[in-house]
Amino acid sequence: MTETPHAAGPEIEVRGLYKSFGDNEVLKGIDLEIRRGEVVCVIGPSGSGKSTLLRCVNLLEEPTKGQVFVGGTELTDPDVDIDAVRRRIGMVFQQFNLFPHLTVTDNLTLPQRRVLRRGKTEAAKVAAENLSRVGLSEKADAYPASLSGGQQQRVAIARALSMGPEVMLFDEPTSALDPELVGDVLAVMRMLADEGMTMMVVTHEMTFAREVADRVVFMDGGVIVEDGTPAQVITAPTNARTRHFLSRLLDPAMAEVEEETPEQPR
Ligand SMILES: Nc1ncnc2c1ncn2[C@@H]1O[C@H](COP(=O)(O)OP(=O)(O)OP(=O)(O)O)[C@@H](O)[C@H]1O
Ligand SMILES: [Mg+2]
Repeated sequence: MTETPHAAGPEIEVRGLYKSFGDNEVLKGIDLEIRRGEVVCVIGPSGSGKSTLLRCVNLLEEPTKGQVFVGGTELTDPDVDIDAVRRRIGMVFQQFNLFPHLTVTDNLTLPQRRVLRRGKTEAAKVAAENLSRVGLSEKADAYPASLSGGQQQRVAIARALSMGPEVMLFDEPTSALDPELVGDVLAVMRMLADEGMTMMVVTHEMTFAREVADRVVFMDGGVIVEDGTPAQVITAPTNARTRHFLSRLLDPAMAEVEEETPEQPR
């Protein structure tokens, strides 16, 4: 296992990452470093490779080429204990993936007991702490179906936190939610950011990116087109592709006008 001094290096490091699905080259040479405690929002059009990049960071997808390091450990080292490394990485998806037949508490204790081999009492204590952090202590004995989408997503975040991750990866965590439920989930993510969690967040929530992210990365066509502070990338993008993407995102009416551009004469 390749170890580099943890404190000195970045918490997440991606070097020369390529990923193809068959003939489709989806990631075309990604280099990215995220320091400990940094919040990086990844934005970009559909199909640009954002989810694939995030999934390569915990090896849910195996890169075709390149290296991924988390906390100084190389995940792409063939000899690495990938299960041990994955325990250090929390992942939150658009879909919450809670077990419907288990209570909220049991959803939080099961992975702790199975994966971390925690005893019942300790797992329950950790679950209660994390439910409290996401503001859902009163739902401990509820079943997922009785919760709103936003509450279910906060449970999913508490479940990830209960594993004690060093970094958290979020893939469009609010995209499946009704607009009025988005704010509560973003508030929990903001709290985590304030607490110093290292976070990589794929999102279309530009207000969150502007206010919470230390850096914003714009991806298009499998490459990082722009990487900088929110002020640089969102407010004053230098690249035409970034400007085009943002104008459509921030002003959907403009996007409609563009999409209604008359067809070329035949
Ligand atoms: N498991 C897979 N097998 C084959 N092709 C895949 C797979 N996962 C992703 N792709 C392809 O990779 C490309 C990038 O997909 P990806 O999901 O990373 O994009 P994205 O930027 O997350 O898009 P979105 O904003 O729609 O979520 C797409 O062309 C997609 O069809
Ligand atoms: Mg995606």
